[in-house]
Amino acid sequence: MTQTNYSALTTTPNLVVANWKMHGNFKQNAALLGDYIEKLSSLKRTQVVVCAPYPYLAQLQNKLQSSNIAWGAQNVAKNEFGAFTGEVSAAMLRDFGCTYVIIGHSERATAYCESDDNIACKFVQAQKHGLTPILCVGETLLEREAGVMELVVGKQLDAIINLHDAAVFATAVISYEPIWAIGTGLAATPEQAKSMHLFIRNKIASLNIDAAHQLKILYGGSVNPQNALQLCAVENIDGGLIGKCSLNAEEFSAICHAAEASAV
Ligand code: PGA
Repeated sequence: MTQTNYSALTTTPNLVVANWKMHGNFKQNAALLGDYIEKLSSLKRTQVVVCAPYPYLAQLQNKLQSSNIAWGAQNVAKNEFGAFTGEVSAAMLRDFGCTYVIIGHSERATAYCESDDNIACKFVQAQKHGLTPILCVGETLLEREAGVMELVVGKQLDAIINLHDAAVFATAVISYEPIWAIGTGLAATPEQAKSMHLFIRNKIASLNIDAAHQLKILYGGSVNPQNALQLCAVENIDGGLIGKCSLNAEEFSAICHAAEASAV
């Protein structure tokens, strides 16, 4: 297996992550990745990451290893190794050249009852093995309407901070994903995103200023070519986590180029 020498956390100002979710097959992936490579090769200030289902990680490694695109998985086991049927460890992801892993996506947290503590263990495992965790946080519509979104997101961050220390965010990514915006076509407004991103940055800064500076904070939830430029231009938004539009090379490329245009 060829090992990538890609550095886990890049120093490019922006990061755009494709979350393919449970989509794709060998043939479609090959075409999509070919288009990604062609359309994204000119990016200089934006790191693109593709997170695919586990069976396709070898395909990503094979196709992307000599490109400027990094890759990762959509989940990881909270344990190091052992009798955990169906789980995939962080070390196994590294064997396939992964440098990133999505952790705590709300689609998993709700459907598979993932607790904040479980998510925190996965975060630690990822970092222990040199993967950059992309920690998803966000509130439900009910919680937003009740005005408790910062409490909710704060608690999600505390689960990590309490297990370790805010310093761990220096080599991590947080993706703010309001649950009501994921896959609904209804993105957060730039104002809503701005206020939550500032809350997240300030929370980390109050504990560890260096980590707050290095931390990338993405926005995820119905990002599309029409709203990408406006969202990426918002202060404290360092890129996006893209679901549906990442399955279309044209749309995904337009979003990545919008991130590039807003990167300073
Ligand atoms: P979406 O998904 O872009 O399809 O809304 C975003 C996400 O899963 O975070």
